[in-house]
Amino acid sequence: MSSKSVTLKKVTKTFEDDHGKQVHAVEDIDLVIKEGEFATLLGPSGCGKTTTLRMIAGFEDISNGDIYFGNENVNKISPNKRDCTMVFQSYALFPHMTVYENVVYGLKIKKMSKEDMDKKVDAIFDIMNLNMHKERMPNQLSGGQQQRVALARALVMEPSVLLFDEPLSNLDAKLRLTMRDEIRRLQQRVGITAIYVTHDQSEAMSMSDKVIVMNKGKIEQIGTPQEIYQRPSTKFVADFIGTANFFEGEIIEVTLDELVVQTSQATFTVASYGSFKKGDSVILVVRPEAVSLNEEGTYKAKVTKSVFMGQLQEYEVNFKGQDFQFNVYNPMGEKVYQEGDTVGLVFNKNSLHVIKKS
Ligand SMILES: Nc1ncnc2c1ncn2[C@@H]1O[C@H](COP(=O)(O)OP(=O)(O)OP(=O)(O)O)[C@@H](O)[C@H]1O
Ligand SMILES: [Mg+2]
Repeated sequence: MSSKSVTLKKVTKTFEDDHGKQVHAVEDIDLVIKEGEFATLLGPSGCGKTTTLRMIAGFEDISNGDIYFGNENVNKISPNKRDCTMVFQSYALFPHMTVYENVVYGLKIKKMSKEDMDKKVDAIFDIMNLNMHKERMPNQLSGGQQQRVALARALVMEPSVLLFDEPLSNLDAKLRLTMRDEIRRLQQRVGITAIYVTHDQSEAMSMSDKVIVMNKGKIEQIGTPQEIYQRPSTKFVADFIGTANFFEGEIIEVTLDELVVQTSQATFTVASYGSFKKGDSVILVVRPEAVSLNEEGTYKAKVTKSVFMGQLQEYEVNFKGQDFQFNVYNPMGEKVYQEGDTVGLVFNKNSLHVIKKS
């Protein structure tokens, strides 16, 4: 299969709300998704993910800007000529057709010879392990199987770009995990460009080469899952991805490899990166895994909650007037503290992160 890059230049979508007022669902989006890349649009409900995807697919006109597949501007190209297919949350299978008929449907419309059609369908059924279900009707399949058929139906068309809008949200938690792996493996195997929409951050982190975090119609940050998690560029991103505790403070010293941050609770030393200078107002981001406990630690805090979660102990402590949460992994080998205990906190400077206060 061939794959293509997808480029968005200053793409805007304006809708009219119920009072006739113009609202930007998507505003000035600049984005490049490379050939064969798995990119995920991630963000809270209403931030513009589906609208962006539908503009890429051609289901929605764009109000302003340009969209390219490879070097070709596709603004005026209709969805069925756009060399991409979309997999929906609701599968959208034809209920009165067998699995085989569902998958072959698009090829029939293309007026392909029976021989070629069968070859292509067989190949996809092999890849996707669907051979034994060929003659079944969609309502005789589980949700996961139906979604695999929907995926096969999209792939058999050999598009250069595959689009997904929350394809796993109708499945139960366990199946979602399996399907995640399956979609990712399949995408890598056929080398297709994939653009995936979800509001589930762990789905985005585990599947993507590139994560595009959106908020209120705009892009907050684009990066690898590691960059987004470890080096969020805004408080919104830090808060949306994983769990984070925030301390407001000021940079009081910048050395070659360290930043020193003064907050009202304590002085923190952070491994240096980015461009910060003395006097900058900042927000210190402390992830739940950045803390360990030590009886002698100088940063004393009071335990307000201690919950055993199996692989980790979840703590909430009050540290000089501010509540914050962290986890101790593999608590079996550690002393477990209870509500009311006083503990000493040790912060791992490599896991701390600083954001400029805007
Ligand atoms: N056809 C439309 N007419 C008017 N407003 C619309 C239309 N479609 C979307 N919107 C508005 O545009 C904004 C973005 O919607 P969109 O569906 O892209 O969000 P989303 O990120 O996909 O959210 P969700 O996670 O809930 O699916 C929302 O405020 C929505 O109400
Ligand atoms: Mg949506």
